[in-house]
Amino acid sequence: MFNWFAQKTKKSSSEPAHQSEPTTASAQGKAQIYKPEAAGAEPTSYAFQRVKHVILVASGKGGVGKSTTAVNLATALVAEGAKTGLLDADIYGPSIPMMLGLAKSQAASGDGKTMQPQQAAGLSVQSIGFLVSPDKATVWRGPMASQALLQLIHETNWPELDYLIVDMPPGTGDIQLTLSQKLAVTGAVIVTTPQDVALSDAQKAIVMFNQVQIPVLGLVENMSYHQCSACGHQEAIFGRDGGVELAARYQLPVLAQLPLQTRLRECSDLGKPLFLSEDPADDALCLLYQQMAQHLIKQVQLLAVTSVPEIVFSDD
Ligand SMILES: Nc1ncnc2c1ncn2[C@@H]1O[C@H](COP(=O)(O)OP(=O)(O)OP(=O)(O)O)[C@@H](O)[C@H]1O
Ligand SMILES: [Mg+2]
Repeated sequence: MFNWFAQKTKKSSSEPAHQSEPTTASAQGKAQIYKPEAAGAEPTSYAFQRVKHVILVASGKGGVGKSTTAVNLATALVAEGAKTGLLDADIYGPSIPMMLGLAKSQAASGDGKTMQPQQAAGLSVQSIGFLVSPDKATVWRGPMASQALLQLIHETNWPELDYLIVDMPPGTGDIQLTLSQKLAVTGAVIVTTPQDVALSDAQKAIVMFNQVQIPVLGLVENMSYHQCSACGHQEAIFGRDGGVELAARYQLPVLAQLPLQTRLRECSDLGKPLFLSEDPADDALCLLYQQMAQHLIKQVQLLAVTSVPEIVFSDD
């Protein structure tokens, strides 16, 4: 059986992975289980250079809807015509495979060196969930998990992508800092619910990104109100406009205010993203995500316009 990690350590550090094109489907092998104890080598692949914009979807707090936002934002970008990938950076609790109906998928390698991303809903998808069972990943220490994630990123044969949406784990620890410092990240999107306990963690995430000089492109207020599927009545069960006020405090745009709706949870559990529904153009929820995607694209464009190189005069 093909040993993914053993092959990888033999590879020359100057060899760009994207030059090794996958062989035919019949020659494809299954990548073997990743061995975290052997981790330690620096990433050696350059496939990542084909990714134009890396966007981190983060929050300080768990369970506020990062993964749900990442999936729907990514599929909305596809609907906008953007070539988009989705990376599940939640090493300890990957949920992207399930949300995209890929729970049974395993990483495959075409060239014995790099992994092919899975395809779902028009996205190129990678997750540690395709390599190890979650119960194994949970015992990794912080640096091990960070190293595993970097290898996952750099050893994936990414196609040309306009956007790579990264579904971050909760918190502001090792993994967040490693990704922020070791990847060329365009910006971050902060997801929060409107209640105080989530807002204070979202604020920590904003401060962390400011410290590592990653632009925060906007804030998504998830579960802003509950919308009754029978009568349409709206109720702000987690409080009103907490996210909007936090965004105002840090002068960030609000990319969307999303309802708490049974259908969103159902789509995630069934592994069928909203945008695969029959008529997304007529779907109020899809429209909200579509607006979020358009807003994000504008923020990225704006960033490109405002990031003019600084001219430094010196005596040399
Ligand atoms: N707007 C929403 N309406 C209904 N259910 C939602 C909504 N947003 C998220 N959920 C549900 O809430 C749960 C948590 O969402 P999700 O997994 O996206 O959060 P997370 O921030 O990624 O969590 P973690 O920090 O554990 O990674 C899931 O069951 C999801 O389906
Ligand atoms: Mg998640």
